[in-house]
Amino acid sequence: METFYVTTPIYYANSLPHLGHLYTMIVADTIARAKRQRGIETYFLTGTDEHGINIERAAERNGRTPKEQADYVVSYFKKMTSEFGLDTEHGGYDIFMRTTEPFHYQGVSELWRRVAKAKTPRGNDAIYKGHYEGWFCAPCAAYKTEDEYQKPKNEGDPPTCLIHETPLDRVSEESYFFRLSDYDEALLSVFESRPDFVRPESRRNEVISFVRGGLQDLSVSRLKTSVSWGVPVPDDPAHTMYVWFDALTNYITAIGFGNEERQKAVGFEKFWPALHLVGKDILRFHAVYWPAFLLAAGIELPRAIVAHGMWLDPNGRKMSKTLGNVIELDILQKHFSTDAIRYFCLREMVFGQDGRFGYEGLIDRANSDLASGLGNLSSRTLTMIGRYCDSRIPSGTISEDKLLLAKRSGVDTDETTVAGFIETARDQFLLHFENLAFSRTLEAAWSIVARVDKMITDAKPWDLAKDENQKQTLDVVLYRAAESLRWLSVLLHPVMPGASHAIWSQLGLDGSPAQVNPAELKWGQLKEGTAIGNVQPVFPRIDKARTMSEINAGEKPKGVHATEADAVGAAAPTTQPAPPMQHATEADAVGITSFIEIDDFAKVDLRVGQVLSAERIPKADKLLLLKIDLDEEQPRQILAGIAQYYEPDKLVGRKVVIVANLKPRKLRGYESQGMVVAASYGEEGRPVIATFTEDVPNGARLK
Ligand code: MSP
Repeated sequence: METFYVTTPIYYANSLPHLGHLYTMIVADTIARAKRQRGIETYFLTGTDEHGINIERAAERNGRTPKEQADYVVSYFKKMTSEFGLDTEHGGYDIFMRTTEPFHYQGVSELWRRVAKAKTPRGNDAIYKGHYEGWFCAPCAAYKTEDEYQKPKNEGDPPTCLIHETPLDRVSEESYFFRLSDYDEALLSVFESRPDFVRPESRRNEVISFVRGGLQDLSVSRLKTSVSWGVPVPDDPAHTMYVWFDALTNYITAIGFGNEERQKAVGFEKFWPALHLVGKDILRFHAVYWPAFLLAAGIELPRAIVAHGMWLDPNGRKMSKTLGNVIELDILQKHFSTDAIRYFCLREMVFGQDGRFGYEGLIDRANSDLASGLGNLSSRTLTMIGRYCDSRIPSGTISEDKLLLAKRSGVDTDETTVAGFIETARDQFLLHFENLAFSRTLEAAWSIVARVDKMITDAKPWDLAKDENQKQTLDVVLYRAAESLRWLSVLLHPVMPGASHAIWSQLGLDGSPAQVNPAELKWGQLKEGTAIGNVQPVFPRIDKARTMSEINAGEKPKGVHATEADAVGAAAPTTQPAPPMQHATEADAVGITSFIEIDDFAKVDLRVGQVLSAERIPKADKLLLLKIDLDEEQPRQILAGIAQYYEPDKLVGRKVVIVANLKPRKLRGYESQGMVVAASYGEEGRPVIATFTEDVPNGARLK
């Protein structure tokens, strides 16, 4: 039997899941469902990467052991996969892999031993002991070369990571090295002979030019005294394996490499090689380091490494907690169906490129493509079958004597016209799916929706129903619409399992669209006389104004991640998370990597002020010009970007908080001598001015 193996990255166990993690899982889940639907035995892996200095530090910050820290984060991931229908119970992943599993230790030690014994293509030892001297970024879990860090402003300070903007760690210690520099030609010949090995092409080119630029040997261990949370190097426990060597190997240990029990339960030979789905942020690790390790160990290379782009906010900025522009999973969960989220993710991101994710965009797509598109097609078709055909699938054929009549009413009497169109669209759908071009795949499906909608609108069944003689024409139109819906529910099963099943059962069909191979769909197999099910809207319309105002109001629903207790309670029975720490907040777990000292905070001079006057500025619709009393000789003139949200008059007399030592700057020709402190929330960044509920004198300092 044909088999298939798909993986997501295993996510760091130092921060809570967010839309980015959800996205890769949705894509992998869609691929896995599509394979299963075609009768291919499929294994789908996701999980967590639980070792390394970053997790060790997060644990320390939160007063947990590293394992407790990992359990804590895993409980949130499991909650997410369950709520969004991605776990085994809902037909999603087959394993939630954790690198702290003992069988993984066994497997990864076995891989190390093999690599340590190997010779490189140039005849050298693949692993050797040396001394590492350089800079390491803990959040990236990667060493940084000069062009990958920002030099410090002050001499003596460490440089900072260009990605995380956090200080790097100086590493100067004995280390094992993997002789990556000997693998450039071998890797280039893989890229050359297997053009589909790294996808899409743009990413492949990036990887090729990185390798052509010359590879440096890779430090693959840290002294246990520096990093103790990890897998010990076999036969040299004073060293801990580099976390990426450990993490990448999960893909093979999960299915039985180096461990009898997993081998029996899953089977390495049965499923390997895998298709690795990753974000472009970690492509190099997967497309260069991982294949090199495998080449050294003499293990077959992955089937492919497919890198997708990153989700940005609607303005094209990277999502981050600090900017306050992250898409919250609990909000998604509360306001949107999983199917709508899956559809949006796959339709909106051109696979391989970055995409923009905003709640408004999601609502618009859900309303136009789902509620008014597919959902409306389904309900109008089924409602008419209910009304005009006694809730039974009508006949799809017209007798000779009625052909002319049908033609006169504008209905195409040649059934193969619509059937042919839909078959072609199906073929395109499958082709694009095979190429993982999900946006185009869905466009192909929606071309069917548009075509059938037009057929109904042109034929006007409601008029045909008034004429007894046109009964056959009416039946044929509704049959074609219903049969198209059957096809759509099969095609869309991997993308929207819930909705596709709903349409399937409303058509009165038994079994599940999950069991029908879309390539084998035959037009006309929908049986005449089938009693349709209860007709219900598949995609209820979302009230945009109401939903956006609820989201903007920032209410924290008791949803997926509402409280730590919720998440902890949801852990699978095999992994009992540590009891929640008192005062632990989401921020503890989300991996704040750069805390400031109290002295840093003291540099900001925050003072109480009182608004003496406020006025609008001509031609600057966002700015208000404020005069503020800080109990200084002169009132301050401060500009604030709040004009769209505050009436100037209402601000006069109000106590506010001012950043008093902000360097003055000119805006629209006016000097602004400080800044008004405000909260900012929602996608548009709505400001809410900070104020006091008790009396406080002007000029008082905030500490
Ligand atoms: N632990 C490593 C992976 C080891 S795999 C052997 C790691 N973990 S991570 O938690 O940082 O996850 C990174 C992955 O999360 C990305 O490659 C991508 O799959 C997903 N995403 C994280 N943020 C994302 C976006 N903003 N947009 C899309 N996907 C994102 O790296």
